[in-house]
Amino acid sequence: MKKLIIITGASSGLGEAISEHYLREEECKIISISRRVSKKQEQLSTDKFQFISQDLSGQLKKQTLSALEENINNYDEIIFFNNAGTIEPLSEFKNSSKKLIHNALMININTPIELIHFLLSYSELKKMKFINISSGAYKQSIENWSIYSSCKAFTFRFFEILKAEFSTQNQISFISIDPGVIDTNIQDTIRERSFPMGEYFRSLKSNNQLRSATEAAAFVINQI
Ligand SMILES: NC(=O)c1ccc[n+]([C@@H]2O[C@H](COP(=O)([O-])OP(=O)(O)OC[C@H]3O[C@@H](n4cnc5c(N)ncnc54)[C@H](OP(=O)(O)O)[C@@H]3O)[C@@H](O)[C@H]2O)c1
Repeated sequence: MKKLIIITGASSGLGEAISEHYLREEECKIISISRRVSKKQEQLSTDKFQFISQDLSGQLKKQTLSALEENINNYDEIIFFNNAGTIEPLSEFKNSSKKLIHNALMININTPIELIHFLLSYSELKKMKFINISSGAYKQSIENWSIYSSCKAFTFRFFEILKAEFSTQNQISFISIDPGVIDTNIQDTIRERSFPMGEYFRSLKSNNQLRSATEAAAFVINQI
């Protein structure tokens, strides 16, 4: 069965590692929606890997939706990963910039919801899996992470409700997966900052307790 994998944020970290996995599969094309594309990804044939340049903190561009539309029609199964995310603003809420708050709500909530709504317009015609990259943070009250953790709580609940709404349609599924704590750019940012749980995250790195992006991708893909 021909699969189309749509990943937000496949330019680095977990998203890149997930895309590496699907690059090895035949009859499968990957679309990455993000601001950047890696050097390696740039070299790939567009039949296998297509980059859609889209800043998820802004409005979805018409070109983004039309590029998705052109592809969707050629595939039997669509797997969408809501993966892109930002930890910013990593600061006390009252000191957080309005711009960073706005961007985070767009990247972590608004734009993925709009993309999922768009993709669901094909739900009568295609087999579809929606994967939400969640985080243990949604269950915890980590000071200075108010926006990030709340966004993760939002998307977790959103996916649970969509799962219930589509429970009678076998060809459409929704799952949230917590990939664990991973050695990516987000953790670099976390370690650089000063906040009450900062030392804990620095100790995870120094004690080699972070998952590699490849390990986390394998963990995610095993659950799909
Ligand atoms: N690392 C962890 O410990 C951990 C733990 C639990 C959950 N997660 C989740 O895992 C997911 C992936 O994060 P990661 O750890 O792999 O970090 P990462 O390496 O920083 O990756 C984040 C991805 O999000 C994309 N992104 C960020 N801002 C964007 C924007 N404005 N527009 C478009 N794309 C944007 C980035 O692409 P561009 O920069 O190219 O735009 C990048 O590919 C996130 O949802 C994160 O919350 C991570």
